[in-house]
Amino acid sequence: MAAKFFIPSVNVLGQGAVDEAISDIKTLGFKHALIVTDKPLVKIGLVGEVVEKLLTSGVTSTVFDGVQPNPTVANVEAGLALLKANKCDFVISLGGGSPHDCAKGIALVATNGGSIKDYEGLDQSTKPQLPLVAINTTAGTASEMTRFCIITDETRHIKMAIVDKHTTPLLSVNDPELMLKKPAGLTAATGMDALTHAVEAYVSIAANPITDACAIKAIELIQANLVNAVENGQDINAREQMAYAQFLAGMAFNNASLGYVHAMAHQLGGFYDLPHGVCNALLLPHVQQYNAQVVPARLKDIAKAMGVDVLSLSDEQGAAAAITAIKKLSVTVKIPENLTLLGVKAEDIPTLADNALKDACGFTNPKQATHAEICQIFTNAL
Ligand SMILES: [Fe+2]
Repeated sequence: MAAKFFIPSVNVLGQGAVDEAISDIKTLGFKHALIVTDKPLVKIGLVGEVVEKLLTSGVTSTVFDGVQPNPTVANVEAGLALLKANKCDFVISLGGGSPHDCAKGIALVATNGGSIKDYEGLDQSTKPQLPLVAINTTAGTASEMTRFCIITDETRHIKMAIVDKHTTPLLSVNDPELMLKKPAGLTAATGMDALTHAVEAYVSIAANPITDACAIKAIELIQANLVNAVENGQDINAREQMAYAQFLAGMAFNNASLGYVHAMAHQLGGFYDLPHGVCNALLLPHVQQYNAQVVPARLKDIAKAMGVDVLSLSDEQGAAAAITAIKKLSVTVKIPENLTLLGVKAEDIPTLADNALKDACGFTNPKQATHAEICQIFTNAL
């Protein structure tokens, strides 16, 4: 089957990236932005700084700071109303995965009409979204450069996976200077999310040599830099390397897609409003234990990328070593030990498994599971 490779047409990474991007925005001729962000970023002054820099370049803006940690249909509708009322000609998302996902929802519905619920699934839209510039402050979901948009439907208590070629941002921006203030817990959770992207893309049935190269390099960089970024948030080099790592992981999963870790984590996020990265970190070893039945050699490659000497190991031993290395990294960055500590209840598992099997992210998992098997993986993580 032919592989398609999706990525924003321009991507700016490294120190000074924001200034570079604002210069690009000016060149593109945009006039009035809807800045989609959250209240904590307004509070620390980051949004004000970007508004000022845009003004200096002759670009005005309206700020929508109502994005929740797991953005909802109502968030998308509120942002869209503000966009229309202020006649914005483009959208800037500023923050982590939640502002980017909400901004994609707003920009997609702005041109396609209807409700964001109409676009659940793969490529349901017909028109390109309003141009989106995604300025990232976490490392990360990589939502600033992917075509994945995850919106919580608060009436059904599920996260909708909208995977659409039209939600790819026009320009992605990763400036490590914006990541220095990120708290340790958030750094750990988002870093483990990036590791999950790389691992799931590497074992995906849609992996190809390009996504493999991106995934393995991402895993090496995360292994080498995540602990430093968590323990010393001011380490600009660790922040920059993690920005590259999460971007590479994004390149991998944007094209090879994901697996059951994300399909299952989305349900925990939608049902209990839990942080995405923490859910992934907890499920990752258990899902790979399941996947080890069919892709032990791929998991052995992951162990090697995480620094394990695999030379004398069989594929099965290599897979076990990868799972151990993932658990060790998770413990070192202080991810909670199990789902029970997050309030997940055994009686909810059959419903969570029902919805996980419908999530598009699971379709590329290397082994398709039964409902009972998904329930067992959830139970193992309790
Ligand atoms: Fe993720």
